[in-house]
Amino acid sequence: MLWLDISTFTGDYENMAQTNFDNNPRRTAFLIVAAVFCLFCVGCGVSKHPPVEFRYQQEETVKDLQAKNFSYPQTRFVVLSDPHYYHPSLGTSGPDFEAYIRDDRKMLAKSDEILDAAIERVRREKADFILICGDLTKDGEKINHRYIAEKIANLHPSADLYVVPGNHDVANGISRRYTKDRTEPVASVSPEEFKRIYADYGYASCLDADAASLSYVAEPVPGLWVLALDSCLWRENDPGKHPVTDGRFPGQTLKWIEKVLIRARQQEKAVLSFMHHGLMEHYPSNEKYYGQYVVDNSDTLTRLFAAYGVRLVFTGHFHAQDITAKNPEQHTSRVFDVETGSLVTYPCPYRTVAFSGDGTCTIESRFIQSIDSVDTGFPDYARDFAFRGTVELADKALEGYWVSEKGRKILAPQIAEAYVAHLEGNENRPEQVLKAKGTGLMGRIVVFSQKDLVRGWWTDLWPADNRLTIDFKDGSISSDTRH
Ligand SMILES: [Fe+2]
Ligand SMILES: [Fe+2]
Repeated sequence: MLWLDISTFTGDYENMAQTNFDNNPRRTAFLIVAAVFCLFCVGCGVSKHPPVEFRYQQEETVKDLQAKNFSYPQTRFVVLSDPHYYHPSLGTSGPDFEAYIRDDRKMLAKSDEILDAAIERVRREKADFILICGDLTKDGEKINHRYIAEKIANLHPSADLYVVPGNHDVANGISRRYTKDRTEPVASVSPEEFKRIYADYGYASCLDADAASLSYVAEPVPGLWVLALDSCLWRENDPGKHPVTDGRFPGQTLKWIEKVLIRARQQEKAVLSFMHHGLMEHYPSNEKYYGQYVVDNSDTLTRLFAAYGVRLVFTGHFHAQDITAKNPEQHTSRVFDVETGSLVTYPCPYRTVAFSGDGTCTIESRFIQSIDSVDTGFPDYARDFAFRGTVELADKALEGYWVSEKGRKILAPQIAEAYVAHLEGNENRPEQVLKAKGTGLMGRIVVFSQKDLVRGWWTDLWPADNRLTIDFKDGSISSDTRH
C-alpha cells in the first residue's frame, strides 16, 4: 500500500493509495503499521515464476560463442519514449476530462502539439534509425494508434523507425473519449491490430518475431541487431479496468531471446535492446515502492544480456531521465539501462546515441523547448505542470493520513522537488531530503516510514543521466552532469 501514487503521472493505477481512513484512531494506527509492514513485504521479492534453464549455462559450444566480442558498428540513432498520444478530437474539456487530468498530470491535452514539436526537432537530427520505447497512446485507443502511426512517419526523412508496446497500448480496458457531459468507451487494439498498425515500424521487416509476445528482432544497419522486446502483460488486462502496470517475460519469450542472441553471435552481429519496462532499478527502493516499473525477470534478463554481450538496453515507463548499470565491477559484461523520460512529462526529452565504431558510445539528451500554444518558456511551463501536480497529489495523500494542513504545506513541496529532480536526472541530493519539523505527529510518522522513497528519488545511481560517453573497451565513462 503506497501513500503517494506517482502512477497518476504515468497513468498507471494499480497502486492507487487507499486514503479513506475512518475516524477510529486504533484502526488508523493498525493500518499505518500494516502499511509499513506491507512496504517491507513488497521488497521481499519471492519469485512466482519457475527458473528458465538457458543454454549458455550448460552447453560448451554456446559458452565458446560467448567468448567472441563484437563491437557496435558506427551509427547514430534517436530514442523517444512515452508520447502517450491523445488526439484532441477525443475531447479535452468537460468535467470528466478535467477530473481525469486532475488525477493524471501528463500533458495529455498538449500531446499532439508536443509530438509536432518533437518531429520538427528530430527531423534535423542525423539518424539512421529511431526507437520508441512504448506507451505510444494515452490508453490504447485505436484512433490514437492510427493518428500517431501516421504522424511518426514524418519523424525523419530517411531513418527507419521501430516501436514496442507500452502497458497502455494493447487491449486497454479504459480506452475512452470525453464529451461535455459524458465519457464513452472507444475501441482499443488487439495484439494483431497493433502489429498491423505498426507494420512499417518493425513488424513487417523484422528478421524474426516471438510467437508468445509482440517482440521481434531487426537489423537497421549492417552488423547491428535491435532486439525489440514486448515486456507488457496485456493478456492480463480486463475490460473496464486500468491496464496492468507490471512487466514480465514468460519462459517462452526468454528462450526465444536466447535463440536470437545465439544466432547473433554465430552471425557476428552486435545487439542492443529496447523495451518499455525498466530492466533494473533506477533509484534505491525502486523495486520496493514501484516494482511495477522494473521488469519482474530483471536479474535473469540482465544475466542473459551480459552473457551474450548486449551492453545497452533503452527503456521508458517511469517517465524519468535516468541511466543505470549492473555488473559495475566487470566492465566487460556491464549492462546499461538507459531510461528516457516521457515526451509529455517534464523535461520532455529525447535522446541521440552515436556509436563511434571503435568501441565508444555517446549519449546526449535534447528537450522540447517550445510548442505552438506555449512558444516561450515551455520548459518552465512543463516543470511547473509536473511540480504543481505532484504537490496536489502529495497533499491529497497526506490528508488521507491525517497530516495537518500546516504539515502538508511543509511536506508536499519537498516531495514534489524530489520527484521532479528524479524526472530531470543528475539529481543533486540535499543534505536533508525531508524536513519533518513543524509537521506534527502524523507528519513525522509519514516522514519516518517513507523517507527512503524520497531519498531514493534524490539519489542518482551511477552513471550520469543526460550526457555521457561510454568506452566499452575499458569501461571508462566521461560525463557531463549539468542539467
Ligand atoms: Fe508512460
Ligand atoms: Fe508505462
